[in-house]
Amino acid sequence: MVIGSRAAERAESAAAGLGLGIEGAENAECARRSDVVIVAVPWDGHAKTLEALRSELAGKLVVDCVNPLGFDKKGAYALKPAEGSAAEQAAALLPESRVTAAFHHLSAVLLQDESIEEIDTDVMVLGEDRADTDLVQALAGRIPGMRGVFSGRLRNAHQVESLVANLISTNRRYKAHAGLRVTDV
Ligand SMILES: NC(=O)c1ccc[n+]([C@@H]2O[C@H](COP(=O)([O-])OP(=O)(O)OC[C@H]3O[C@@H](n4cnc5c(N)ncnc54)[C@H](OP(=O)(O)O)[C@@H]3O)[C@@H](O)[C@H]2O)c1
Repeated sequence: MVIGSRAAERAESAAAGLGLGIEGAENAECARRSDVVIVAVPWDGHAKTLEALRSELAGKLVVDCVNPLGFDKKGAYALKPAEGSAAEQAAALLPESRVTAAFHHLSAVLLQDESIEEIDTDVMVLGEDRADTDLVQALAGRIPGMRGVFSGRLRNAHQVESLVANLISTNRRYKAHAGLRVTDV
């Protein structure tokens, strides 16, 4: 597993902090060395980051978890990307990649807390190709407590990305790291 960064030394230092044999590399090198690439950069840097990695990401499975959000004094709110969603922007910018979208609602705080043994949440997985969404669902399922649930094609990614604004409001009110469960599946 390789962590990417705009600066190789930041990636190496983050990887060393995690241990477990994880390596760090500059974003392009990280993309070149990976078959599955999770895109987790702020919305502001999303298009620029992907444009620069188009050739390195060709033929790769890209998992976009970016939530286009704005913040003002009332809290978080969903932005409306021209392409429809961050995931659709990724698909437009990466025509030779297989783009999926997932992990939007997962709390980084919970992921980083080594004292937590299970993360009680489902992961909504979107994409155009069943083999790809199955693989991402299986990835989600490797984290104890988590389950990947197919949630539609990329044209429906906007709602999933936007829902994070609601979860942020919930977290602020209840001092929580709220997750989601899809019932009856
Ligand atoms: N935090 C969460 O719980 C969570 C959960 C689900 C999804 N997400 C989504 O994941 C994305 C990243 O969230 P985050 O909380 O990890 O944010 P973050 O800490 O601000 O950003 C993650 C990394 O992206 C790189 N970065 C920052 N600005 C950039 C830019 N303009 N262009 C390219 N790279 C840039 C930085 O790494 P380098 O400086 O080393 O390049 C930074 O460490 C967001 O779109 C968010 O909506 C977050």
